[in-house]
Amino acid sequence: MKISEALFSGQKSLAVVGLGYVGLPAALAFAEYVPVIGYDYNESKVRQLQQQVDPTGELDAQAFECKNIRFTAQAEDLREASFYVVAVPTPIDAFNKPDLTPLLAATRVVAQALKPGDYVVYESTVYPGCTREDCVPLLEEISGLQVGVDFWVGYSPERINPGDKKHTLSNTVKIVSGWDAESLQEIAAVYEAIVKAGVHRATSIEVAEAAKIIENTQRDVNIALMNELSIIFGRMGINTYEVLEAAGTKWNFLPFYPGLVGGHCIGVDPYYLDYKASKLKYHTQIISSGRFVNDSMGGYIGKKAVKQLISMGKSPLGAKALVLGFTFKEDVSDIRNTKVADIVRELKDYGLSVDLVDPMADPQQVHHEYGFELQEAPGSQYDLIVLAVAHEQYRAMTLEDLKAYGKEDTLLVDVKGLFGSRRHQLGWPYWSL
Ligand SMILES: NC(=O)c1ccc[n+]([C@@H]2O[C@H](COP(=O)([O-])OP(=O)(O)OC[C@H]3O[C@@H](n4cnc5c(N)ncnc54)[C@H](O)[C@@H]3O)[C@@H](O)[C@H]2O)c1
Repeated sequence: MKISEALFSGQKSLAVVGLGYVGLPAALAFAEYVPVIGYDYNESKVRQLQQQVDPTGELDAQAFECKNIRFTAQAEDLREASFYVVAVPTPIDAFNKPDLTPLLAATRVVAQALKPGDYVVYESTVYPGCTREDCVPLLEEISGLQVGVDFWVGYSPERINPGDKKHTLSNTVKIVSGWDAESLQEIAAVYEAIVKAGVHRATSIEVAEAAKIIENTQRDVNIALMNELSIIFGRMGINTYEVLEAAGTKWNFLPFYPGLVGGHCIGVDPYYLDYKASKLKYHTQIISSGRFVNDSMGGYIGKKAVKQLISMGKSPLGAKALVLGFTFKEDVSDIRNTKVADIVRELKDYGLSVDLVDPMADPQQVHHEYGFELQEAPGSQYDLIVLAVAHEQYRAMTLEDLKAYGKEDTLLVDVKGLFGSRRHQLGWPYWSL
């Protein structure tokens, strides 16, 4: 019996390894159609999931209802599964090189559970060649089984966009790939159940890996171009958002905007590609320049704010600053690799006292990861307000709401240009990217 038939008839189970932003929605989606084991090595996370609580805050309790899923932190439970989906993090280390530690650890756990006839599909973002060169040998070595004979491997990158309720797992075409033509069809059949928009069958695992990494690299490079333009326009005293609005009236002008590129996808994935390119003796120019520009933006914004304060005759030393928003992007709670941290550090380095608020971020996590105290609510009489993240709550802010935090001549640094069209009514010194 084919693996897809065995899964859909309930005779075999599917396991998802790693239940974060990517793994949990996938596990719950599969659990509508097949028996699912949701495995994560983080016991406290598993306890929360058992109580129908998604620690990322992306899914509500309803998403867990009527699903054929069992959450576990016991690796032995994986032996009951026959189709493994791996969705663990693929971060970079302190030198911006791929850190495959979680991916290889998850691969070891899966290898220990692997049986003849099983399938392993990786969803974690990796450089082209990683599945075949780094993961498969480990699966074979530990299991004693042979790929393409005893078990099959595939790669299916995830495209979800946390905080985005419009583009979902189900309504976005998903790329699938397999070890050979037959396993590709089986993997496609399994994913077709949960992706209503359908699947795209990539011609190889490497093509699927490369497709994912260039989706994010393309965004990174384009945002870097906007950031560089914004630095140039800043020197000319031209508002970048107004330039983009004007240029955007042409049919083929692409809608990218300047901003902070943090998180663990767009700001990380290009380093994976860069790493692979340098292994092949090609030193990226455009990709690494993009990374350099985007990684410098937090410091640039902080410095720009301080310079402007000084030009207003205010000393940064002891000046009061409020930073609104800390997560890596709007409407998510994720603070990993947030570039707002660079703004805060820059302001503190220049002697400002900084109050930091964010309606979505967890204060304990912020303290643990960055050593910053997140305040419950802003105070008042700030010399500088940095509107760093365009959370819904900040998008809904009126001029009066904002003015309540400031003084007569507060400097507003509006990173995302939220108050661009209202800046004259605001009557404050204003700067945005
Ligand atoms: N978050 C996104 O928007 C997004 C989108 C597309 C692709 N991706 C990629 O998907 C992958 C996962 O990202 P994420 O955002 O879901 O990460 P995450 O940190 O939210 O979740 C990963 C989960 O894996 C668990 N984990 C780590 N090591 C493990 C191990 N050895 N065994 C079992 N569980 C383990 C962690 O406890 C965590 O719950 C990454 O490669 C990422 O680049 C993420």
